[in-house]
Amino acid sequence: MRPLRIFHVVGARPNFMKVAPVMAALASQPGVQQKLAHTGQHYAANMSDAFFQQLGIPEPDVNLEVGSGTHATQTGQIMIGIEQCLMADPHDLVVVYGDVNSTVAAALVAAKMQIPLAHVEAGLRSRDRSMPEEINRIVTDRLAQLLFTPSADGDANLLAEGADPASIHLVGNVMIDTLVRLLPQAEPAPVLQPLGIPAGSPFVLVTLHRPSNVDDPEMLGRILEVLSALADRVPVLFPVHPRTRARLSGSRWLRPALHLIEPLGYLEFVGVERHASLVVTDSGGVQEETAYLGVPCLTVRENTERPVTIEAGTNRLVGRDTARLHREAVAILEAGRLGRPTTIPPLWDGHAAERIAAVIVNGAWRRRIDATAAQRSV
Ligand code: UD1
Ligand code: UDP
Repeated sequence: MRPLRIFHVVGARPNFMKVAPVMAALASQPGVQQKLAHTGQHYAANMSDAFFQQLGIPEPDVNLEVGSGTHATQTGQIMIGIEQCLMADPHDLVVVYGDVNSTVAAALVAAKMQIPLAHVEAGLRSRDRSMPEEINRIVTDRLAQLLFTPSADGDANLLAEGADPASIHLVGNVMIDTLVRLLPQAEPAPVLQPLGIPAGSPFVLVTLHRPSNVDDPEMLGRILEVLSALADRVPVLFPVHPRTRARLSGSRWLRPALHLIEPLGYLEFVGVERHASLVVTDSGGVQEETAYLGVPCLTVRENTERPVTIEAGTNRLVGRDTARLHREAVAILEAGRLGRPTTIPPLWDGHAAERIAAVIVNGAWRRRIDATAAQRSV
């Protein structure tokens, strides 16, 4: 029988944790051939290569090396590159991940070339179209024939938007697959020791990269003021995303205990994330990981496309109110615990990618897509 040829597209840091388990699960299926395209949206060694090594992702078959640019420049260049790849080497299915520009660009190409499209992490909605990711999510989901959702709210969002129920598969969270697999190797010492933070002592972990927080100098300044105040109590560890690094200037915020460090590798990051007294973030993936780990998380955003992390009891939105961020952070540090029960969302169990592989290989989607095409042509 002819092999099923699958083309995965990734480009930015949070894509790598998601593609790793899916490619591994499909690799163990007979009759499947896979190719991996890296768009080069993220290209620094500590935003890309480190993850391929630690996560055991195969070397990409192609790297488009598009680099940074405006949304249209980046999306357009990725589209041109992916179209060339798929014209030269046709595939049966394109798989895209998450909500970054690489995701929507590849989705548009697949749809126009009439290649079936699968979206891993479908259905999430912040209902905030000022976020570029929300546009990427809506467009990608509208175009995909296979919608793999991490949580039931994703199914509800898709159904409300009129998606075909047969295209929606609630499979769980692939990011948690990677976390479950690599947690035993993730230790805090490689990060804490060089900074002189004793094992077992409290500390705060911070990640920030949303334009709404870091591109607004006034907002970034207010957040740094809070982090400096927290650093007067406990060490604050802040691996700085390159977007944010470009906007940090001056030494106004420097405190010996406010550690502004380079982005960490996955094992190093998860090693400190699991032991943090508190995580302050605007990252989607970090909201999810802290939910699984039962670590208190304050999200510096007005909304989240991951409401299950709030229902889990770990995550709280503090919005743009930095006084509230300070108040809630101090309360968590003083209590030393969340003060409320936490739960892990259903199907965040380390097996989401196996469920995705089963749906892809089973092939019922191919008959469904053929039938829809036949109906259209009548
Ligand atoms: C992107 C995603 C965002 C995701 C984040 C994860 C979009 C629209 N945004 O945001 O959804 O949450 O990745 O980290 O797709 N840069 C470097 N080196 C790199 C990569 C970026 O220096 O390897 C710098 C460049 O100055 C660049 C800036 O970071 O202009 C932003 O990079 P970009 O990929 O456009 O957006 P992110 O903020 O990383
Ligand atoms: N992460 C990492 N090193 C860091 C910061 C984050 O490995 O210094 C990991 C984190 O564990 C999670 C992922 O990056 O798996 C989240 O990606 P990011 O915050 O860049 O994007 P988002 O999830 O917000 O789209």
